[in-house]
Amino acid sequence: MKKVSFAEFGGPEVLQVVDAPVPHAGRGQVRIAVQAAGVNPVDWRIREGQFQKSATESHGAIGLPAGVGQDAAGIVDEVGEGVHGVEAGDRVFGRGWSTYAEHAVLFAWAPVPENLTFAEAAGYPSVVETALRILREVGVQPGQTLLVNGASGGVGSAVLQIARERGIRVIGTAGPGNQDYLRDLGAVATTYGDGWVDRVRQYGAIDAALDLVGSGILPDLVDLTGDPEAVITIADLSAAAHGVRFSGVGGPIFEALAEAVDLIARGKLRIPVEKAYPLEHAAAAHADSRAGHTRGRRVILIESH
Ligand SMILES: NC(=O)c1ccc[n+]([C@@H]2O[C@H](COP(=O)([O-])OP(=O)(O)OC[C@H]3O[C@@H](n4cnc5c(N)ncnc54)[C@H](OP(=O)(O)O)[C@@H]3O)[C@@H](O)[C@H]2O)c1
Repeated sequence: MKKVSFAEFGGPEVLQVVDAPVPHAGRGQVRIAVQAAGVNPVDWRIREGQFQKSATESHGAIGLPAGVGQDAAGIVDEVGEGVHGVEAGDRVFGRGWSTYAEHAVLFAWAPVPENLTFAEAAGYPSVVETALRILREVGVQPGQTLLVNGASGGVGSAVLQIARERGIRVIGTAGPGNQDYLRDLGAVATTYGDGWVDRVRQYGAIDAALDLVGSGILPDLVDLTGDPEAVITIADLSAAAHGVRFSGVGGPIFEALAEAVDLIARGKLRIPVEKAYPLEHAAAAHADSRAGHTRGRRVILIESH
């Protein structure tokens, strides 16, 4: 089969499409014929070697050559030992390894909702798990106001819609071209950049804040909420210096996928696909994602099936 792989850490040019043996589903896993793979910033962070320094025994360094991608949607073509409730031919989406490939093994999955294409479905797993986790960790309640820095990306789109569904008022920041997008998702919208703190203040008190960008605004978020405990970042490694929590450890993924299915079925969650790329253009997908202005999610389409 074909898969995207890299043999050295570096820029998008290190990505290559290579021939590789088809992987097998181990115990508690399924294998899919991948139809689409989600492109997450973590994919190019790993490719750049960003996690090599922080690798520990429990969170090992990446061995080379390495595959790319952790989200996918496709058709089950092998079911591992001990797996029940899913069979070959089922349409699923979920989390796995080396998903920019014709076949990939998933360790968590759920059925693709009826009204989603594979390309759309591939965009949900990681962003929904992250959104549910940070909403839980920040502890914001119905009726309260949540500020979301960087609300138009993948995680932001999910956070906004899930928070609104729970009766939380949301103020989101995004670029000028995404203001209507945020409003359509039910948020109060404003732009980031010079004067943004004053623009946010005019909308009243902020109970909790999420930083999804790492743009150096943690002191502002602490100031706006009045409490570092009410702020969480998923992208700013200086969090501890500001007394702010960094959320980086994944929550329960089967539960997150089940909740995504429910929200999608009820018309409460929709993550748009910004652009789809063939496997051969994975490098362009990474460069575009790294540029930092994705609305929703970018995906890789596997066209050989
Ligand atoms: N720690 C974790 O568990 C975890 C999990 C998932 C993701 N992450 C990290 O979280 C970040 C967000 O992930 P994602 O998948 O949502 O990324 P994404 O889809 O690439 O989102 C990028 C968004 O950031 C916005 N943005 C760019 N510059 C900004 C600025 N200066 N101020 C405010 N917003 C700005 C953009 O909005 P405009 O286009 O409107 O400018 C764009 O919508 C990434 O760094 C990722 O690595 C961490």
